[in-house]
Amino acid sequence: MFERPRGTNDWGPEDMAKRRFVESRFVQLAESFGFREVSTPTFESLDLFTAKSGPAIVRELYAFKDQGGRDLALRPEFTASILRFYVSDLRSRPKPIKVYTTGNVFRYEEPQKGRYREFFQLNAEIIGGATLPSDADVLALAIGTMRAIGLKQVTARIGNIGILRGYLPFEPADQAVVLHSLDKRNFPMLDAELARLGRKDLGEPLRKVVELSGGMEILGRAEKLLGGAGREGLEYLRQLAGLLTANGVGSSDYAFDMGVVRGLDYYTGMVFEIDSPNLGAEKQVGGGGAYSLAEVFGGERVAQTGFALGLDRLVMAAEAEGTTEAARALDAYVIPIGDEMRKRASEVVSMLRGASLRADIDLLGRGPTKNLDYANAVGARTAVLVGEKEAKAGAVALRDMKSGAQRDVPLDSLIEAIRNG
Ligand code: HAM
Repeated sequence: MFERPRGTNDWGPEDMAKRRFVESRFVQLAESFGFREVSTPTFESLDLFTAKSGPAIVRELYAFKDQGGRDLALRPEFTASILRFYVSDLRSRPKPIKVYTTGNVFRYEEPQKGRYREFFQLNAEIIGGATLPSDADVLALAIGTMRAIGLKQVTARIGNIGILRGYLPFEPADQAVVLHSLDKRNFPMLDAELARLGRKDLGEPLRKVVELSGGMEILGRAEKLLGGAGREGLEYLRQLAGLLTANGVGSSDYAFDMGVVRGLDYYTGMVFEIDSPNLGAEKQVGGGGAYSLAEVFGGERVAQTGFALGLDRLVMAAEAEGTTEAARALDAYVIPIGDEMRKRASEVVSMLRGASLRADIDLLGRGPTKNLDYANAVGARTAVLVGEKEAKAGAVALRDMKSGAQRDVPLDSLIEAIRNG
């Protein structure tokens, strides 16, 4: 017996139906927003992720050498790969470039409920649009996806990491450490770092600012705490709120939260996270924001913004709110009555499949009673009994599995009878 590796999952048919339901809502909405699908490799050069994603991600990488001695890593996210692809191939295309992708990513984290080592993301990026309308567009897609899945209890928190960056007069590496301590709300570490950098005085206003969360009114409060350093970034959030309303995202769909810092180092402006209250410790179902990676990979300066939703967690949130669709069962299960009828039954099942019905046929040569038990067990909507007597009349017997009602149906109206049944 083999066990699957720690932090990975097997997904059965019922799980996959729910996962595909959630994924398809995202894909449909992204397409309706004008995003187009792309795909990038599952593994990349190790450097791609060590360049700018930050120490938290680097610590969690599945890194390895291949047989040619190359340093590689399984992707821990999509953004770096998409920006590599943009710089090498996509940048001559008309801007803005709006792309989405879905798939598995890998992080060596301590597994628990909702936190896995292989998990799935639904990811969208806009490259080369103007900052404000692009940020509004990705937020409208991220929040709209929640609504399209039927989630009502999730909330988005929107901040601006540009404000904190502007307030911290440090080298990038020192800034990253301070931001990391704020992200983790690790205030002893924050104080220690600020003391090391000779700016203990920043501790109190920073602690107060990251606790600010609410409506438009908190922006004024943040401005009081931060002074001139925060003005531009806070004004940006005010303008964003106006544009979000026009994009169909109401003020009840999100709160401003000055404490959204994000775990990845490449963010530069608007940042956001989406939480589900039903998931316990790992409640973040998505996050993203404006960032700067193209420049790091050798491209010119362009606006970049996007997000990723955690599919595994979204499905858990949808289950908790009861919004997932049940797996679609068979429309018809075809049962030959005796071996002589197998060929005719095969023709019947082919005909039904040709009409895009979900149809299956007995593969074990079981008798009618056992076959009806099976049809019942797999939740088939109808059973089609192909017997000699009916065949002579050009018909089959159609049984409604729920009511047990059975009637003869001419073969040429079987498809319609199953569709309407
Ligand atoms: P992230 O916040 O690292 O952002 O991941 C996005 C989402 O993936 C999280 O909100 C969470 O739902 C899910 N997630 C993260 N780790 C795990 C895990 N171990 N198990 C299950 N789900 C997990 C990014 O990855 C950025 N690339 C998002 C982005 C795109 N920013 C700009 N563009």
